[in-house]
Amino acid sequence: MVKSIGLKKIKTAVFISGTGSNLKSLIKFSFLNKSPIKIDLIITNNIKAKGLKFAKIYKIKKKIYNFKNKSVSEKFILKDLKTNKIDLICLAGFMKILSKDFINNFKGKILNIHPSLLPKYKGLNTHMRVIKNNEKYSGCTVHFVNSRLDSGKIILQKKIKILKKDNSNSLKKKVLKLEHKIYPEAITKALTSL
Ligand code: GRF
Repeated sequence: MVKSIGLKKIKTAVFISGTGSNLKSLIKFSFLNKSPIKIDLIITNNIKAKGLKFAKIYKIKKKIYNFKNKSVSEKFILKDLKTNKIDLICLAGFMKILSKDFINNFKGKILNIHPSLLPKYKGLNTHMRVIKNNEKYSGCTVHFVNSRLDSGKIILQKKIKILKKDNSNSLKKKVLKLEHKIYPEAITKALTSL
């Protein structure tokens, strides 16, 4: 794993597919003195991703690849990462599964945030499944990415209580709020304490 040493911030790429609220929280975090990262690149597979507006607002370079041919898209992305001297990747609502090859190229340097208390509820539609199963708690997890979906080593996890009146939508909102807090904390933890 790459380590944060002194004042030099680690050049980071954030991968998104949708709204990008985690991207926004990471950008804001990156502006803080105490932040060990600097976001230099935003990658998406979705030209319509709402989160792309943050590239414009905060003047961050963006790249769009459609992933119709995954290995070709990944090859170009690896090139972009090299050109921009990126040393850390944060997946934030990125809906494509990266290949083993890609992950091996960035071993130990890819983080992901998942809206459940992993190892429970890997994959999609987490909140719906959590509510359906009458769980008492849910939460979110930041973990290293390995070649198995949502299965890499956990860096940080936080839980919240599910109220009787909660539905998947209200739960999603609550968990998302927690995600915005936990991702920056997890990055700092991963970069400084490993
Ligand atoms: C978040 O819930 C994240 O945990 C999941 O996808 C969602 C992305 O939300 N992987 P946003 O695009 O960051 O708003």
